[in-house]
Amino acid sequence: MKKNITVLPGDGIGLEVVQSAVEVLETIGTIYGHDFAFDYADIGGSAIDKHNDPLPASTIKACKAGDAVLLGAVGGPKWDQLSGDMRPEKGLLRIRKELDLFANLRPVIGFDSLSDSSTLRKEVITGIDLMIVRELTGGLYFGEPRERREENGETIAVDTLIYSRSEIERIIRKGFELAQVRSRRVTSVDKANVLETSRLWREIAEEISTEYPDVALEHMLVDNAAMQLIRDPQYFDVIVTENLFGDILSDEASMLTGSLGMLPSASMSAEGPGLYEPVHGSAPDIAGQDKANPLAAISSASMMLKYAFGLSEEALAVDKAIDQVLNEGFRTGDIAREGEAVKTTSEITQKVIETL
Ligand code: NAI
Ligand code: MG
Repeated sequence: MKKNITVLPGDGIGLEVVQSAVEVLETIGTIYGHDFAFDYADIGGSAIDKHNDPLPASTIKACKAGDAVLLGAVGGPKWDQLSGDMRPEKGLLRIRKELDLFANLRPVIGFDSLSDSSTLRKEVITGIDLMIVRELTGGLYFGEPRERREENGETIAVDTLIYSRSEIERIIRKGFELAQVRSRRVTSVDKANVLETSRLWREIAEEISTEYPDVALEHMLVDNAAMQLIRDPQYFDVIVTENLFGDILSDEASMLTGSLGMLPSASMSAEGPGLYEPVHGSAPDIAGQDKANPLAAISSASMMLKYAFGLSEEALAVDKAIDQVLNEGFRTGDIAREGEAVKTTSEITQKVIETL
């Protein structure tokens, strides 16, 4: 299989962990006979330095021309004084819009070998394997009007929660499609007891569920879902929800299983290339020191293999290698246990490659 991957390293540890992910993809290519070509482009602070724009037109063009995008992280103190549209993070928001990445997938998987780094009891988190599917381009974050105004001597701020039928349909479908190849259970999270958008959401989820008779659908109010995620996270398979609820629940869920340095994500559009990136940021405190945990980025590459290219076997091989490396006690500082030698980014990457 021949695939073109657009690589956007970004800033800080983005450069280091993306390099690890690329090396792992190259290894997979060699083992399984795939031809992965990598096309590098700038985003974030490094793009500001070179092009005076956090998302140059050349980067957008490169992303649209490829089969998938691999991103590191953006941001850092060097660019903190810049405002508004010139900030590195703006590059990230813009690329999501440019590629119409409406579905954000965040898997939450409990590694047995890391169960001691969670704040929850071992028996609560063992065996967690859930997927949060968050709507990423609609809802309260994009609704108009959004403004501040003065009324009768009072300052009023307005955000608008708005969703169209087609926006809801496509994200709910994504949830069902994912559930079909998992444990066949969708939990649709809303606030239908209060919000009109949630009532429409619920109706549409019911309609779409008839297209997927092999998948069970349940509805859960978001406040209850926040509670159940902590009480019994093993209960969940696929959670599908709107933008704001998904933002909050996915951060909550990510902390069930340990370090930021472990968590991958995928953002997908209807047909164009998807974007695969670790959840963490550019970590300026450890950047350039070969200290970053590359596993979130490597895991994001695994999601790319599976979801962008349909290479499930290859993805599973990467996931298994990660698990084995952890089990053998190879850990960067963020997850190292007391008294254990701390490994570097390059050492972990090499170990994953050897294991593959
Ligand atoms: P951060 O995720 O960069 O770092 C938070 C803490 O976690 C730091 O102590 C860092 O050393 C540690 N950490 C993060 N990833 C790690 C890894 N792979 N291995 C080991 N330790 C890791 O978040 P922070 O510090 O709030 O933001 C730093 C910069 O990153 C800011 O400019 C922020 O805007 C940007 N950012 C970018 C994101 C992105 O590109 N998707 C997401 C979040 C923040
Ligand atoms: Mg968030």
